[in-house]
Amino acid sequence: MERWVGRVALVTGASVGIGAAITRALVKHGMKVVGCARNVQQIESIRDELKAEKGQLIPIKCDLTKEEEILAMFKQIQKDLGGVDVCINNAGLSHCAPLLSGSTADWKNMLDVNVLGLCICTREAFQQMQKNKVDDGHIILINSMSGHRVIPNAAGHFYSATKFAVSGILEGIRNELQELNSHIRVTSVSPGLVATEFQQRMHKSPEIGKKICSHFKCLEAEDLADAVIYALSAPAHVQVHDILMRPTEQKS
Ligand SMILES: NC(=O)c1ccc[n+]([C@@H]2O[C@H](COP(=O)([O-])OP(=O)(O)OC[C@H]3O[C@@H](n4cnc5c(N)ncnc54)[C@H](OP(=O)(O)O)[C@@H]3O)[C@@H](O)[C@H]2O)c1
Repeated sequence: MERWVGRVALVTGASVGIGAAITRALVKHGMKVVGCARNVQQIESIRDELKAEKGQLIPIKCDLTKEEEILAMFKQIQKDLGGVDVCINNAGLSHCAPLLSGSTADWKNMLDVNVLGLCICTREAFQQMQKNKVDDGHIILINSMSGHRVIPNAAGHFYSATKFAVSGILEGIRNELQELNSHIRVTSVSPGLVATEFQQRMHKSPEIGKKICSHFKCLEAEDLADAVIYALSAPAHVQVHDILMRPTEQKS
């Protein structure tokens, strides 16, 4: 990770869960991390907790469903930090919204955050890297095992479709970077069940969330941070494409 010391990473959804764990790991490795989410206070308290570490955390409030907020954030990153070198598209969510009975508003929200927010951030990050002549940048997509197989659980079918979109987007980005002879790399990490707020937010119930995560030992957010560090640490000629990881006891 030596070559990333002092360079700039954006982590979306840095307030809790996987994004917060990735943020902590990158700051400990000496990166300047811009952490964004709606709940910026939570990122500010992570910043305070990391004060003695090698790198630094810069919290920015950003609702990824609002393109103008994303564009303003990238402007601020260019102005204050000279642009991004690494973009980690982590923010994502699921509503309980089956294909035959779910609400359009829930579907739109998932598309806005999981697909469009990820695409807008990736486009803006790439354009900033190109403008700043950064040819060794890295774009990381936090996908899901649900972007690779559909499990018969109606509540999550639309979410799964947004993650299948991420699998297609990964290949599309890789292709477009190749066409441009760019050395910017793109990697996706696809976990099974991770012990975060994801399930409780999905089911709007901390109890249900905890119960789902209690059937077996889930992945921890830090396991995902380790996978991200692995991809970022790979030598320049190695492009880690997709890391699929399940809890050992997960059946689906
Ligand atoms: N947990 C799992 O089992 C699991 C499994 C596979 C894949 N994943 C993927 O891993 C990623 C992270 O999930 P997690 O488990 O860490 O979930 P989490 O604990 O619920 O955290 C979700 C993060 O996304 C942010 N977010 C949601 N809506 C947003 C919006 N409109 N604008 C900006 N940020 C927004 C949240 O921040 P605010 O609420 O503060 O805005 C929060 O930081 C997601 O892409 C998810 O699909 C999770």
